[in-house]
Amino acid sequence: MNSEDLRRSVTSALAAVKDPGSGRDLVAAGVVQNLEADESGSVRFQFQLGSDDASDLLKQARSTVEALEGVSDVKINVQLPQMAAGGQGNGGGGLKPGSVPAPTPKPGLLSQVSQVIAVSSGKGGVGKSMVAANLAAVFAKAGHRVGLVDADIYGPNIPLMFGVNRRPSVTGEKGQEMIDPIEAHGVRLMSLGFLLEEDQPAIMRGPLISGILKQFLEQVDWGSLDMMIVDMPPGTGDAQLSLVQTIDLDGAVMVTTPQQVATGDVRRGIKMFERVNTRVLGIVENMSGDVFGSGGGEALALEMGLPFLGRVPLDAAVAQAGDAGAPTVVSASESEAAKALDAVKDAVQKQLASSV
Ligand SMILES: Nc1ncnc2c1ncn2[C@@H]1O[C@H](COP(=O)(O)OP(=O)(O)OP(=O)(O)O)[C@@H](O)[C@H]1O
Ligand SMILES: [Mg+2]
Repeated sequence: MNSEDLRRSVTSALAAVKDPGSGRDLVAAGVVQNLEADESGSVRFQFQLGSDDASDLLKQARSTVEALEGVSDVKINVQLPQMAAGGQGNGGGGLKPGSVPAPTPKPGLLSQVSQVIAVSSGKGGVGKSMVAANLAAVFAKAGHRVGLVDADIYGPNIPLMFGVNRRPSVTGEKGQEMIDPIEAHGVRLMSLGFLLEEDQPAIMRGPLISGILKQFLEQVDWGSLDMMIVDMPPGTGDAQLSLVQTIDLDGAVMVTTPQQVATGDVRRGIKMFERVNTRVLGIVENMSGDVFGSGGGEALALEMGLPFLGRVPLDAAVAQAGDAGAPTVVSASESEAAKALDAVKDAVQKQLASSV
């Protein structure tokens, strides 16, 4: 089909989808904009999310277009509320204390990914992987196309959290092979654990990572994604720093536990991102509860002039999620932790939508 015919057919299909909010169709209401199609059947457009959750509408728009004859690939650039006028929420505006805009343009790496965010902490064992896995799964549940990169060289555990224990397959002709991400719970996954030898000492992994990660990301066939979440390795050393610079992030989510706030690790983590002009989207307090206390994460956010993204309680449902082979928001979606993680998603989304 030629590209103009395809564009027309996609436009009229989307014009048949009603936005229950405005009562108008997606095209007339301006929800769908800048629609393009090419000869290969690749279709792209912008989708303006409403301030109330329009995730079903987004899903509906995607499936409508995907079902059309001649469509091979659909890329939707989701525009978050308030972001319509301001681009990708990446730059512009004045400086807020404690956060800096990321001025570097995105290079070719991950060019098909709309937003890239890292989940980090500065310290091990605070729940980075848990937050990264659940954010990925809950964004996917809301209709976004999500990739999750497990960049933890020391203990890659994302595959376990998603119940995946096979190696990814490699496709393509010799010399142009691509690694297929593994899809689980609606998330496209890739883990350094798939590549590293199990008995490789951790000390050898550090220098390996920044170089290998770039190549690794280039050779993974992500397709187009609305969001990529990177589960960072613990620490604030050179390996982490060069990792941050390799990926060119839109923002970082910092995780801390109430008792870790006092140690300064999370502050060091925040400083690391600021050194490379990566915006810190805010702080999540994990494992808050009676035993460890709570409130420290919020106090730290206030002190550093950063948004507080929410509090995730210490919850048995989180510990059991590993056994279930699914993130808590999937395996125990009614648990307190899952509800809290869903709220963290909303808070992250709100930050991404507002320019600094
Ligand atoms: N809110 C919570 N309630 C109960 N258990 C939790 C919670 N958050 C994390 N855990 C558990 O704590 C452990 C550490 O979590 P996780 O692996 O996500 O931390 P991490 O910061 O990624 O660690 P590492 O630095 O080793 O990568 C896991 O066993 C996880 O199941
Ligand atoms: Mg981890």
